[in-house]
Amino acid sequence: AQYEHILTSRPAEGVALITLNRPKALNALSTPLFIELNDAVANFDHDDDVRALVLTGSERVFAAGADIKEMKDKRYSDVFKNKFLESWSLLTQIRKPIIAAVSGYALGGGCELAMMCDIILASPSAVFGQPEINIGVIPGGGGTQRLARAIGKSRTMELTLTGRNFTAAEAADWGLISRVSENVLEDAISVASTIASKGAIAVQAGKEAVNVAYETTLHEGLRYERRIFHGLFATNDQKEGMSAFAEKRKPTWTHS
Ligand code: HXC
Repeated sequence: AQYEHILTSRPAEGVALITLNRPKALNALSTPLFIELNDAVANFDHDDDVRALVLTGSERVFAAGADIKEMKDKRYSDVFKNKFLESWSLLTQIRKPIIAAVSGYALGGGCELAMMCDIILASPSAVFGQPEINIGVIPGGGGTQRLARAIGKSRTMELTLTGRNFTAAEAADWGLISRVSENVLEDAISVASTIASKGAIAVQAGKEAVNVAYETTLHEGLRYERRIFHGLFATNDQKEGMSAFAEKRKPTWTHS
């Protein structure tokens, strides 16, 4: 598909790359951009040749937030009636893992978009923040909730109420991201490649199980995990994986 605000490519076997591409607006997340992003993500989620996704911006900016110029004149009745932002989290509904490779600014909706991904890697230059308080609002794309779960209440309160930015090093210390990487895009593609080299059903089951940890009690989460684990014994990849181990050879996944 041909897009105006994003680029798509296949940088490695089994891997799809989506690049936010509104350089003049610092990748500000407009409605048209999100329509394209959702379309690309849905297409890759349905494409059997793709087993992991990477989402990135440019060196300078991952995304500087929701498009403030687009939001400026909206009234409560507009945002309520049009369910403003509701479709922005479609990304979290996909089966395949998605890795955010963050360089430069990831502010407001940009930080929230990164947090909607399954894994975040950041370059040393990355600057995260939820600066919405500075423009008279609060995070609206999950910032208060996902940040609180990831880094705790006190830090989330401080960041949300002061609007101060935080560094890649802080994000790594606090456990918001996996790690800081000098070659963040290359690294993200490499992680995605590794994931894509596994059996796709197990990968997607693993993602689903981890996500349940954020939604339910430990007891229910453990039950859920066990059920999914049991279910994998119905797959060809389980037979192949365990046979290959016993026979001292590499498994050939059929993703079935
Ligand atoms: C619209 C934006 C924008 C944004 C930058 N631009 N951020 N346009 N929405 N969020 C535009 C600028 O207006 C400018 O356009 C061009 O991009 C370059 O930006 P500059 O400010 O000149 O660049 P710089 O001085 O390098 O400063 C970079 C910056 C700053 C620190 C990232 O742009 C900034 O503070 N941006 C806003 C960050 C923010 O508040 N984000 C939260 C948004 S609210 P022109 O036309 O002048 O060249 C939000 C709500 C979340 O995200 C809702 C849920 C998803």
